[in-house]
Amino acid sequence: MPDRINNEVMSRIVRPTTYGTPEVLALTEAPVPSAAADGVVVEVRAAGVNPIDWKLYSGAFHAVDEDHKDAAGIAASMPSLGLECAGVVTEIGADVTSVQVGDEVIVYPVTAAYADYVTAPATAVLAKPATLGWAEAGSLMLCGTTAAHALHATGAGAGDTVLIHGGSGGVGLMAIQLATAAGATVIATAAERNHALLRELGAIPVAYGPGLADRVRTAAPQGVTAAIDCAGTGEALDVSLELAADRTRIASITGSPRRAEAGIKLLGYGPGQDAGTDIRNAARPTLVEHAAAKTLRVVIAKSFPLAEAAAAHTFGQASHTPGKLVLIP
Ligand SMILES: NC(=O)c1ccc[n+]([C@@H]2O[C@H](COP(=O)([O-])OP(=O)(O)OC[C@H]3O[C@@H](n4cnc5c(N)ncnc54)[C@H](OP(=O)(O)O)[C@@H]3O)[C@@H](O)[C@H]2O)c1
Repeated sequence: MPDRINNEVMSRIVRPTTYGTPEVLALTEAPVPSAAADGVVVEVRAAGVNPIDWKLYSGAFHAVDEDHKDAAGIAASMPSLGLECAGVVTEIGADVTSVQVGDEVIVYPVTAAYADYVTAPATAVLAKPATLGWAEAGSLMLCGTTAAHALHATGAGAGDTVLIHGGSGGVGLMAIQLATAAGATVIATAAERNHALLRELGAIPVAYGPGLADRVRTAAPQGVTAAIDCAGTGEALDVSLELAADRTRIASITGSPRRAEAGIKLLGYGPGQDAGTDIRNAARPTLVEHAAAKTLRVVIAKSFPLAEAAAAHTFGQASHTPGKLVLIP
């Protein structure tokens, strides 16, 4: 629970102290910031964990600037962690009329949600339906909006047979459900142990690995019309190119030079990728509505206390347990 120092409410924040593996994560403290005029402060009840969180401090993206350190002694260039959460509004800015103090909300997009409190623009906040648990609410959005973008980019819908690579991942589980709800037949790849779950969600599961193209042909003799790559492997790219004739109906949410050269759609925030900001924003209320109505399931793999974020990241990198990891302050 949050501390008080000199009567100031303090927020615990998990931050990487330098680039590296999950051991570099530390629990630091800072005063809870005030809300901007158009913003809110939210007491976090659940923060979704995503692979981007550990990639951000892995050293893959940026070099550390050791010369500029903040009050916690951490290089100011180190990334904040936590891109989605759910919680209770504790303060609103002077210009905010869309939410009230005490409202239960979902916050996305946001930064630094691995914390007791987070600030966000009011536009990032949607009401949390009472039927949706905190863990589900805190981990619905990043994967849900990405999956919605992938469906939009590939035009996947009724009459299509869609191949989804990484169907048992956070994004894949959402993409399966959105595609089947749109009337598509879905073939999804996953480790064998996750096939029962994929079947429950309406997909025809196939194992990835050598022989994948033939297994997909057997599962879908009618042919594949669109493909969504959430796995990022060479195999996922090769099999998509082999089976889906129209490259404009193949989308990948993972980047690679080969993907960039292949003429497929690259979705995300890297160079040459389409961030799909408007599409993703527009998808948020519909995702909440479907999750509230239980027509969209947010599969939770495991929850960890906020202070155990490093363990959550170690688990996430090693595990093939399907579903989301969540941090609970
Ligand atoms: N571009 C964007 O906007 C965006 C947004 C969200 C995520 N991403 C990226 O997309 C990727 C997936 O994200 P996520 O949250 O779904 O990750 P995740 O929950 O960790 O899921 C990873 C998936 O990869 C599968 N997988 C593991 N090894 C594989 C292999 N050798 N061949 C084929 N599939 C394999 C896993 O299947 P099993 O567990 O069944 O083995 C699982 O379905 C990550 O790289 C993430 O950073 C991008």
